[in-house]
Amino acid sequence: MNLLQTTKLTKHFGETHAVDGVDFTVNEGEVLALIGSNGAGKTSLVNVVSGLLRPDSGSIVFRGADVTDLSVHDRIHAGIARSFQLVNLFDQLTLLDNVALSIFSREDLTRKLLALADHHRAVWEEAFEILRQFGLAVSATQLAGGISQGERKLLDVAIAFALRPRLLFLDEPTSGVSTREKAPIMDVITSVVRSNNITAVIIEHDMDVVFKYSDRIVAMHQGSILASGTPDEIRRNEAVTTNLLGAAHA
Ligand SMILES: Nc1ncnc2c1ncn2[C@@H]1O[C@H](COP(=O)(O)OP(=O)(O)O)[C@@H](O)[C@H]1O
Ligand SMILES: [Mg+2]
Repeated sequence: MNLLQTTKLTKHFGETHAVDGVDFTVNEGEVLALIGSNGAGKTSLVNVVSGLLRPDSGSIVFRGADVTDLSVHDRIHAGIARSFQLVNLFDQLTLLDNVALSIFSREDLTRKLLALADHHRAVWEEAFEILRQFGLAVSATQLAGGISQGERKLLDVAIAFALRPRLLFLDEPTSGVSTREKAPIMDVITSVVRSNNITAVIIEHDMDVVFKYSDRIVAMHQGSILASGTPDEIRRNEAVTTNLLGAAHA
C-alpha cells in the first residue's frame, strides 16, 4: 500500500534543479534506500517531504491526506519524522535526556513546562526503553558529548524514533563512521524499524549497505528519479550502473 506519494514535486535553488518534478512513492512497511551521487537531490527531497523546505510546486500525500502545506510540527504529528546527516544532539545532556526531550516535544509538553513533572516518570521510562532497543541503555546516564561517533549516529536515530513516526527518514545514518562499524549500526536500525512496523527511507552511500539492508532502492540523479526497483533489479539497471555505481567505485 502507498504510504507516501509525491507528485511532480519541485524545488529549485536558483539555477539548481535540486528536486525536479519528482514522483516518489513509499510503500507501507518497506525499508527503502535512497541513493545517488553527491548533489543528486536526496537531502532536498527529504527536506521538502519532512517540511523543512517548501516545494516550489507539486504535492505530497501521506496516508491519503495532502500534507504539502503542513508545518514540520504538524507533519510529525501526522507521522513523518527524520534524522539529520550531521547529528544534532545536546552534548551537555545525557543520552536519556536527549531522548526524553524528543518525547516531551512529541507530546507538546515543552510548551507547558508545568506539566513536565506529572509525565516525568513515564517519559523517562519510555526514553530508557528506546535506548535499550538501540543498544544504548548501558550509556543512558553518560553525557552525549562523550560517546563514540557510532553511538552518536544511533542516538540521533533514537531521537527521531522517539517521535513515534510511521515513516522515518534517515539521512546517511552511517556517514562518518568506519566501514567496520556500518553493519552493526544498520543491524540495530533495521531491526528496530522492522520490529516496530515503521516504514523507513534511508539515504546511504555505501552500496554494500544498500544492497544488504533495503527492500527497494530508488536512485536519484540531477534532481530526478533515475530508477526504482529491488536490489537485484538496481544492480542490473544500466542507467544506474553508468551514472551511479561506476562513479561510486571510481
Ligand atoms: N539551501 C540550499 N541553497 C542552495 N543550493 C542548495 C541548497 N540545498 C541544496 N542545494 C543544492 O541542491 C543540489 C542538491 O543537493 P542535496 O539535496 O543536498 O543533494 P544530496 O543530498 O543528494 O547530496 C546540490 O546542487 C546542492 O548544492
Ligand atoms: Mg545529502
